[in-house]
Amino acid sequence: MKVVLASKNPHKLVEISAILKPLDVELVLESDLGVDVEVEETGSTFEENSFLKANAVRKATGLPALADDSGIAVDALGGAPGVHSARYGDDPALDDWGRLLLLLKNTEQVPDGQRQAQFVSVITREAHGEGGFGYDPIFYYPPAGKTFAELTAGEKNQVSHRAKALKLFYEKLCEEGKHADQ
Ligand code: IMP
Repeated sequence: MKVVLASKNPHKLVEISAILKPLDVELVLESDLGVDVEVEETGSTFEENSFLKANAVRKATGLPALADDSGIAVDALGGAPGVHSARYGDDPALDDWGRLLLLLKNTEQVPDGQRQAQFVSVITREAHGEGGFGYDPIFYYPPAGKTFAELTAGEKNQVSHRAKALKLFYEKLCEEGKHADQ
């Protein structure tokens, strides 16, 4: 089945393609289809934003679309930056690393033991590791005793929020396929 990835984030493409590799899904980019859809992320939840992205790309291409809206939600900040993770700090001059440092600064006073972040992890006090992208260097994953940036790509793809969501996506596809066959 051909599915369009409604994202321009190259890191997500790499991760999602690797996770979907064993499955019968041919993942293509909007650009492969000559389409470039700009979607304003106006939703207040990850679900709303991913729906906005997937729906716009589905309409533009006529193909099933897969979107991934994600971010880091820090308990001590009431779930921030959450859906605003990609724009945290509201400063266009900030890159991924700048946003990561801003998040560490804004959680300086948060004591150890209260540094939980979703997706079931904790934020460290310093960045560790070279892998992954975005907030991975401060996203400490206790079962591995490492940050996501210290895991190999394969290890991250076994346990990440993206891998878990895509597993559900695949199960849903199989379900729909079964109904379509009937
Ligand atoms: P989106 O592309 O609008 O969904 O924004 C995602 C934001 O969350 C960006 O700031 C990413 O760097 C961050 N993010 C999403 N997934 C991950 C991940 O797997 N590791 C680290 N940062 C992530």
